Amino acid sequence: MTTVVASRAFRSFARAPWLGVCVRNNSTATAKLKPKPGAKTETRVASKELQDRIAAIPIENYRNFSIVAHVDHGKSTLSDRLLELTGVITPGENKQVLDKLDVERERGITVKAQTCTMLYKYKGQDYLLHLVDTPGHVDFRAEVSRSYASCGGALLVVDASQGIQAQTVANFYLAYSLGLKLVPVINKIDLDHANIPRAKEQIEETFELDAEEAVCISAKTGQNVEQVLPAVIENIPSPKVHIDSPLRCLLVDSWFDSYVGVVLLVYVVDGSVKKGQKIISAHTKLKYEVKDVGIMYPDRLTTPAGLRAGQVGYIVPGMKDSTDAHIGDTFMHMDQIVEPLPGFEEQKPMVFVGAFPADGVDFKSLDESLRQLCLNDRSVTLQKETSSALGQGWRLGFLGTLHASVFRERLEKEYGANIIITAPTVPFKVLWKDGTETIVSNPDNFPDSGALSQKVASLQEPYVEALISVPEEYVGTVIKLCEDNRGEQVNIQYLSNRQALLKYLLPMSQLVDDFFGKLKGLTKGYGSLDYEDAGYLPSAIVKMELVVNGRSVDALAQVLHRSQVEIKGRDWVKRFKEYLSKSQLFEIVIQAKTGNKIIARETIKAKRKDVLAKLHASDISRRQKLLKKQKEGKKVMRSIGNVQIPQEAYQSFLAKPS
Ligand code: GTP
Repeated sequence: MTTVVASRAFRSFARAPWLGVCVRNNSTATAKLKPKPGAKTETRVASKELQDRIAAIPIENYRNFSIVAHVDHGKSTLSDRLLELTGVITPGENKQVLDKLDVERERGITVKAQTCTMLYKYKGQDYLLHLVDTPGHVDFRAEVSRSYASCGGALLVVDASQGIQAQTVANFYLAYSLGLKLVPVINKIDLDHANIPRAKEQIEETFELDAEEAVCISAKTGQNVEQVLPAVIENIPSPKVHIDSPLRCLLVDSWFDSYVGVVLLVYVVDGSVKKGQKIISAHTKLKYEVKDVGIMYPDRLTTPAGLRAGQVGYIVPGMKDSTDAHIGDTFMHMDQIVEPLPGFEEQKPMVFVGAFPADGVDFKSLDESLRQLCLNDRSVTLQKETSSALGQGWRLGFLGTLHASVFRERLEKEYGANIIITAPTVPFKVLWKDGTETIVSNPDNFPDSGALSQKVASLQEPYVEALISVPEEYVGTVIKLCEDNRGEQVNIQYLSNRQALLKYLLPMSQLVDDFFGKLKGLTKGYGSLDYEDAGYLPSAIVKMELVVNGRSVDALAQVLHRSQVEIKGRDWVKRFKEYLSKSQLFEIVIQAKTGNKIIARETIKAKRKDVLAKLHASDISRRQKLLKKQKEGKKVMRSIGNVQIPQEAYQSFLAKPS
């Protein structure tokens, strides 16, 4: 369904008058991570009272909703308040319950969309509410679209002190294009610099929503939060589903649990599902028996009555291999096979890095850890790779830079692994003269100069259409930043609140080179960024290598634009020299080169140890023996070649990209 989601979202994006030119595809602006790999969660059964209450609620009283917001505008905090309000969690005990990953809690960002069922009494009637907390970061767009697929509406949360930001806009259009009913919520009204009238004006102007309907709250203090669920019930429609039709449930998410195996998070679109029933996957045609079924409350809670159309809950199908769980797949009853639901498009990785075990780390155990992590995050691609400098390792593909850094952090935190990560690279495209094309995601596979001149027709690199929102006074700075990053301006729009929205065509490789960090730095944290894939464009790219004593250090090679070669080359050799020990016994020449052209060079002079110092002048035979020994010693060192470069040199060099 992502194809549909994406293209609809884009058509809608294109229709937004202030956005101008349409964008082509958003599948790469997405990312996701799964819940705790191998987490073990005990099965709990819903109390009779809870079961009876749920069973008595008619579908008209179901509300499935999500929260649309820019990162840090308060989705998770609001989710906590709503869970407290409905008695799912105890006030004050659980902070950001839906952020289940340690990394999420520590970084305060939602990476993995989580869901929770709530029961709420309104005007004397019970309502079954299903809240999906979505990630706000641009890398995790796929999570957002998946969550929206099971919802009838969303709360559009705007921080009263910051107003609308790039991600609010992008996520709004995604939700809007999927037909979600949006309920505006203005959050953080407790802050001194909260500006409610400005936030209202922006909501009306940018989204054409009635700002008078906005609920003004402080998710932190709980002020007015009790008005949110009534607004959800009044405004968001109940799910349009068919309880009497044969079962069709959409696989929204999946994760691996060490006790029960793969857990499927499903949205039941038609019919119902119960423990013991036989189900079949429309995609893999594999058959399963439902071992357990229930709601997320906030953890798994078995509901013996199963799940009905309109509900979002989990199924434990006794699936051993999580690669059999395809997001967007439809599950049906084995004896009632019907037309499957439209699915999601598989996401393609857009950032690749090489990963190698640091000294003393066992390759096998790290390999096992990586595989475990990948089982829980199928958007990560993993391939074995061997570097002459760093030994055996892996090439990992991610959906974005945050995705890559969160994955690395999880690996280090959850498995205590120590790894060396190479500079990120994007997939470049080589168009050959014979009409074929190759995607190069490892600089090692970039065509050599011979192939380039004889066989290559053209080289291309991936572009994104970046949407940047900043206060007006930073427009000049941002334009310069974009131009320095080979950006091409598409559009500038000034909003009423002295905010500007800039749209730029940017090479993806510039974006992964900490573009967001630079933007934040230059705009004192006020700049926000979102992006969509804009396809491949011809580009003058070259492979630059770092050569030490005539040998290329493969793990450090990078593909970059010709215009950056001089500056980067000089920086590389200077920095690498710094990280190498000064007391080398022979001369070391460090060069940066593209093809056969040397771009920059630094030399570390040999420090000759005076082995003769303590000898008497007349002791000629002893003197010659010592000199010969020293010469042999040097030979041994030389023959080891680049490998004698201490690992810290690589680590320091890669830790501080130029
Ligand atoms: P992501 O999970 O990264 O998408 O962020 P989020 O939108 O879930 O934001 P989160 O709930 O993590 O809140 C971000 C920060 O804002 C936290 O430090 C919260 O404590 C704070 N915050 C949230 N709501 C309020 C509020 O109403 N008032 C104030 N003063 N701070 C708030």
